Amino acid sequence: MNAPLNPRFPFFLHGGDYNPDQWRHVPGVLDEDFRLFPLAGVNSVSVGIFSWTALEPEEGRYEFGWLDDVMDRCAIATPSGARPAWMAQKYPEVLRMNWPESVAPQRNLWSGRHNHCPTSPVYREKVRQIDGALAERYGRHPALAFWHLSNEYSGECRCPRCMAAFRDWLRKKYGSLDELNHAWWTGFWAHGYTDWDQIERIDPCLDGLVLDWKRFVSDITADFVRWEAESIRPHSPDAPITTNLMAFYDGLDYARIAREIDLVSWDAYPQYHERPGETETLAAQCGFAHDYMRSLKPGRPFLMMESCPGPTNWFHHNRLLRPGQHRMKSLQAVAHGSDSVQYFQIRKGRGGAEKFHGAVIDHEGTERTRMFREVAQVGRDLEALRPVLGSLVPSRVAFLFDRESDWAQKASAGPCDAVKQHYFDTAIRHYRPYWKRGIPVDVLNGDASLDGYDLVIAPNLFMLRDGFAERVERFVEKGGTFVATWLTGVVGPTNLCFRGGFPGPLRKVLGVWAEETDYLYDDECNSIESAAGNALGLQGSFGTGTVCEVVHPEGAAVAATYGRDFYAGSPALTVNRFGKGEAWYLATWGDDAFLDAFHAALAARRGLRRPFEADLPEGVCANVRENDAGERFVFVTNFASEPRAVDLGPAPRKSLLDGGATVSGTVELPPFGVLALAGAGRAG
Ligand code: GLA
Ligand code: ZN
Repeated sequence: MNAPLNPRFPFFLHGGDYNPDQWRHVPGVLDEDFRLFPLAGVNSVSVGIFSWTALEPEEGRYEFGWLDDVMDRCAIATPSGARPAWMAQKYPEVLRMNWPESVAPQRNLWSGRHNHCPTSPVYREKVRQIDGALAERYGRHPALAFWHLSNEYSGECRCPRCMAAFRDWLRKKYGSLDELNHAWWTGFWAHGYTDWDQIERIDPCLDGLVLDWKRFVSDITADFVRWEAESIRPHSPDAPITTNLMAFYDGLDYARIAREIDLVSWDAYPQYHERPGETETLAAQCGFAHDYMRSLKPGRPFLMMESCPGPTNWFHHNRLLRPGQHRMKSLQAVAHGSDSVQYFQIRKGRGGAEKFHGAVIDHEGTERTRMFREVAQVGRDLEALRPVLGSLVPSRVAFLFDRESDWAQKASAGPCDAVKQHYFDTAIRHYRPYWKRGIPVDVLNGDASLDGYDLVIAPNLFMLRDGFAERVERFVEKGGTFVATWLTGVVGPTNLCFRGGFPGPLRKVLGVWAEETDYLYDDECNSIESAAGNALGLQGSFGTGTVCEVVHPEGAAVAATYGRDFYAGSPALTVNRFGKGEAWYLATWGDDAFLDAFHAALAARRGLRRPFEADLPEGVCANVRENDAGERFVFVTNFASEPRAVDLGPAPRKSLLDGGATVSGTVELPPFGVLALAGAGRAG
């Protein structure tokens, strides 16, 4: 059976951010919390995340007494996400400098959190001391499950020291200014550099510079993560280290950060309760985010480090979660491979910017609230789901979702601003047909290995890394199916356009040349006409959506054409046989009906396994986890606010959340209902 993420804790973690330091002067609260934890099924807490002033009230004077008391069952955090006022006052260099482009740099005043300079030697030293002191004291504590580094690393600093570090990074990367000038195309607007020190701002008109700056910010942040990890490991060799990521955050390349940690965790705040009409879209988005985060560490479950029991305080309206929605979104994470359901926050603080943010324990302070009871239900569910712990998601399909490519596209002026803001949405529109059919998917970076997959889908992969096309060629030659779309293979790694026609080095494997692109307005549309006898059996006509590329087959067969305009009759979808496999090129955006038909046919052509023969009704999706003994667990979730009838097929399966009842045939799932089935047979 697969090992849990920390074998000493062989259960789903259920708990989350706990701030007893805010209550250390209020008698009785700690006792009350520990009375409530078992009632809520809370078996772990993350402590110390924002406790630096409680841990070190004055420079060099540590107060650990309060933490000694709570180190009973904890994941412990390092406090570097928010530093004490005394430190900023005495050492202003710990604070970031940010400024609007084109004016002189200014140092931020101390406030908020997440505002440290990553290159400050004083800050690094202070972090090493406090992390080291915590690790020395608790690193071998029997209650310690994981180390949670800092909090949601993010942002950037442009102080003179960080800019100097950037120039060093560039020197290492390019070796000479000649190389750099060439890579950034600095002949444009007379931007050639003759001295490294002339690189003193992130000039938006040099798209190669902007892209390298983003890479540098990821690297310097990763370096800071490593600095924290190295402060801990010598004193705490056995507890795995993580940090909480934010899937949708585009300021860091998480593939880079993931290399510095032992396991991935992330903070999921899907707002199912806010817009009931958009539930299925939200569910697909959140599913993609879970898959993306999980895939950062292949072959391991992840942790959902934060989620909200109740509404947050930062959304526009903060409607209430409807009964059952908390359980639904908690188990959604588990269905995608999480081995925890953790919350921000365990107990609401009385003041400060998060006093109205959802929590397990409300201001009322007891177990009588609705949300407390729903949390307790999740605690019981996680106990019942114990056989699922450690199991993985068996994916034969990979989506390429490459943050560097996203940056390259966003840094470029044009070709169409309306399109380039939608990289995430584009990926999700292609992902949804798999998600709703219960076909497991991994989400990979542009430099990841393609081995072991049947189908690789690369929507709008604007930037190609060196050697990428060769890897795709080998993958397809050996029998893989590759799918690329419009605006793929446009630039290389320094954001210079490929010469010799798009999709650049992929032109050979795809067998097409993409000559020009028509970006339509939202209320305009062309049509996609299925070609007679096409390999996917597509029939009839579909909408294009707003992107229509005009392409010429160079060996590829035409599977669909445009219906109108001067490019009517030219290819909208092509397929190129290459070795034992095939490479598809979708020249147009494609409306949802088209994408559903296209991907359903592709999945069938590849014989991808589905958990059920019958299609799932609207709003219902399925997820699969599998352990190394070959046991499969299928989760079926109804995201809709109405009941849905689901045809599970004739094979009897054990329902883990239902006291082990045996189910088969058509069952009715209540609104937000979840089934977790063991002994799931083969289908599809
Ligand atoms: C983030 C932070 C938490 C808290 C929550 C509120 O995820 O990590 O500290 O501020 O947001 O939703
Ligand atoms: Zn700095």
